[in-house]
Amino acid sequence: MCGIIGITMRRGNATPIIVEGLRRLEYRGYDSVGVALQSGGRVEIRKAKGTIDSFVRKASVMSLRGQTGIGHTRWATHGPPNDVNAHPHTDCRGEIAVVHNGVIRNYSSLREELAARGHRIISDTDTELIAHLLEEEASGTGSMVDALARTLSRLQGSYALAILYSREPGRVYFAKMHSPLILALGEEGNAVASDITAVLDVSRRIIPLNDGEFGWIGPEGVEIYRLTPSGYTRVPPREVESRVKFIEWTPEAASKAGYPHFMIKEIYEQPQAVMETFNGAVDDPALAEASRLIAGARDVLVVAAGTSYHAGLVFSYHLYRLARRHSIPIIASEYKQYSPAVGEDTVVVAVSQSGETYDTLAAVREYQSLGARIVGVTNVVGSALDRISDITVYTRAGPEIGVAATKTYLAQVTVLTLLAGYTGEARGVLDRGAREVREPLSRVHEVVNDAIRSSEPYAKQLAGLEGSMYILGRGLGSHIAREAALKVKEIAYLHAEAYPAGESKHGPIALVEPGFPVFIVATSDSPEVAGNAIEMHSRGGRVMVTKPADMGLEIPRGIEVLDLPPSHGDPVLEPFILAPFYQLLAYYAAVKRGYDPDKPRNLAKTVTVE
Ligand code: AGP
Repeated sequence: MCGIIGITMRRGNATPIIVEGLRRLEYRGYDSVGVALQSGGRVEIRKAKGTIDSFVRKASVMSLRGQTGIGHTRWATHGPPNDVNAHPHTDCRGEIAVVHNGVIRNYSSLREELAARGHRIISDTDTELIAHLLEEEASGTGSMVDALARTLSRLQGSYALAILYSREPGRVYFAKMHSPLILALGEEGNAVASDITAVLDVSRRIIPLNDGEFGWIGPEGVEIYRLTPSGYTRVPPREVESRVKFIEWTPEAASKAGYPHFMIKEIYEQPQAVMETFNGAVDDPALAEASRLIAGARDVLVVAAGTSYHAGLVFSYHLYRLARRHSIPIIASEYKQYSPAVGEDTVVVAVSQSGETYDTLAAVREYQSLGARIVGVTNVVGSALDRISDITVYTRAGPEIGVAATKTYLAQVTVLTLLAGYTGEARGVLDRGAREVREPLSRVHEVVNDAIRSSEPYAKQLAGLEGSMYILGRGLGSHIAREAALKVKEIAYLHAEAYPAGESKHGPIALVEPGFPVFIVATSDSPEVAGNAIEMHSRGGRVMVTKPADMGLEIPRGIEVLDLPPSHGDPVLEPFILAPFYQLLAYYAAVKRGYDPDKPRNLAKTVTVE
């Protein structure tokens, strides 16, 4: 997830407004920064790896002057963070500058086509290809509106774009598909940006753009067009005016997009996080290569910590189910006890959203020294894990500011479920190819959205739970329960213990007394979990069963049932259906107790110590 901004002023210099806007967008990504300013018929670009502060200091940005310009703060998805991959990207002649937030799914084929037509592509990014496509289309017709419409029709995936065209000074072109983008219409000038934060100083009159819309802002106004199957149509000016909203937020409030905390904002960002991750991974050659490596290994170890370990448990489950491949999930700090059996025919799947967790990196370095091949799964391009892995597969959840892993967990489950399916295909076990996972995952963002909305009332209603609790599950449910319990512990400071439901009668049930809260994470692979719910209920426990709505369970009266979106019996969907409730329960329980969900006590976002 990156931050983009475009500004066009009636008079004065756009540079300081662009830089301040980028500072407010820095929470969206901060591995590299860049700006492009239009002055005297030319487009001047400055860009560099690093934070905005270092960029402003070393790139003599403030010396740039121009009434029109664009800016970008990057969260790398294609290509490591460096000066070349920083945005803006340009065409061969330097007449077109583009900044982009999103993932172009048909990136590989577009790159091959453009190179075959003689385009000199200098970066690893998908964004640069857009500049070259625009160059081709504009050279034909000269009108950037036509060129942009035709270019957009060739892109698959997600984008929010801001574009300068040196032949049309004063204008910033824009386009939106799946990635957020808004316009701001002010007295002194107009703006386009990834979110309201960046443009509050330009205007509080904003227009949220819709998917498939594109157009331009200039000092004189704005024009919006809508893509159609045969080309495009212009949005009538009256409709444009009718969509203007007035925003009351302060910049601080706006960086959380109006949410009170980053954690709740990131819970709500999950549909986009899983969609961007799916779009970026489904045709990723690295994913296919990793699946072949895993398919051919003698041993597969899955190494991670915390929430990433819980995502690894889901991966190990699917690897058995879809690929008939056994694997050993390892808590990273316990890696030494497995070293004796590690060798050149061992493949290690290391999962870490930050890519910097000490325990996980220590395990990877040890196993790599013993000859193992490493598949890294991380949210940060250029992280330590990315750099030492033989193959890296990325989640594309964007920066996660809250200490609790939420959107990165479901993004990890997305890419790991794909990896398990592709391994099944590589081993010839999945006869329908990996369609068992591709089809449900291609729409899982809708499932997550439904799960969040249906979970919210339950979570608010149960936020007052006190004391210890069990969170029990069987099969896939026991792995989701582990993540559920971690969220409740680390954010609401309530002792929640996850346990395999069937095992709880071998001792733990002794703790259950009247009113003792027991959550059941019911998944379609284990309907017998209903019996465990009844056992707990008969000892006076307050049993609450969370389950997919279409899962038929024999639950007697007195046991609370929290119906969540249907899974149609597909385990691929069930982590996405069940996890949001527990994320929201932890969040609302923390808020009810007056805790800060973004900064829980004793915890750091990334644990870089032993
Ligand atoms: C989860 O909410 C915590 N933030 C923590 O357990 C985290 O998952 C763990 O430290 C691993 O972090 P990583 O994914 O960056 O390696």
